[in-house]
Amino acid sequence: MARDILILNGPNLNLLGQREPDIYGRTTLADIGAMCRAEAARLGCAVESRQSNHEGELVTWVQQIPGQFAGLILNAGAYSHTSMALFDALRALDEPLIEVHLSNIYQREAFRQHSYVSLAAKGVICGFGPQGYLLALRALAAMLHDAA
Ligand code: DQA
Repeated sequence: MARDILILNGPNLNLLGQREPDIYGRTTLADIGAMCRAEAARLGCAVESRQSNHEGELVTWVQQIPGQFAGLILNAGAYSHTSMALFDALRALDEPLIEVHLSNIYQREAFRQHSYVSLAAKGVICGFGPQGYLLALRALAAMLHDAA
């Protein structure tokens, strides 16, 4: 449990694989979950992946992290750019957070270039597609190993 990592995905990420594939690619969220489980096994930790289209549900899951998970990887989708509620929940979290975006949000519309999540994150990985989740896992596992 102490080494378990939670991966949270926000709105519309359930549509990965069919949603704007020119931007987000053809890999589904289930594929990403399987890739993360395999990478976590290699790293000697476990992951649990969840997705929600509901801001409040994401806030509740963040609140439930202490005692259950050692760290969080979060792609909050559009809530990254809009949600002060999620930001407040993340600020209250002591466990390390890594923010992930599949696309390079800094090459896109101006409204995507600010993220509330970044203000609470240890680090941000964007633009590497599904690989970004694996990079985040490696970074978080190393961080947790160093802290142990
Ligand atoms: C995203 C980028 C967000 O701007 C967008 O709203 C998403 C996906 C990404 O992974 O690139 O839903 O978080």
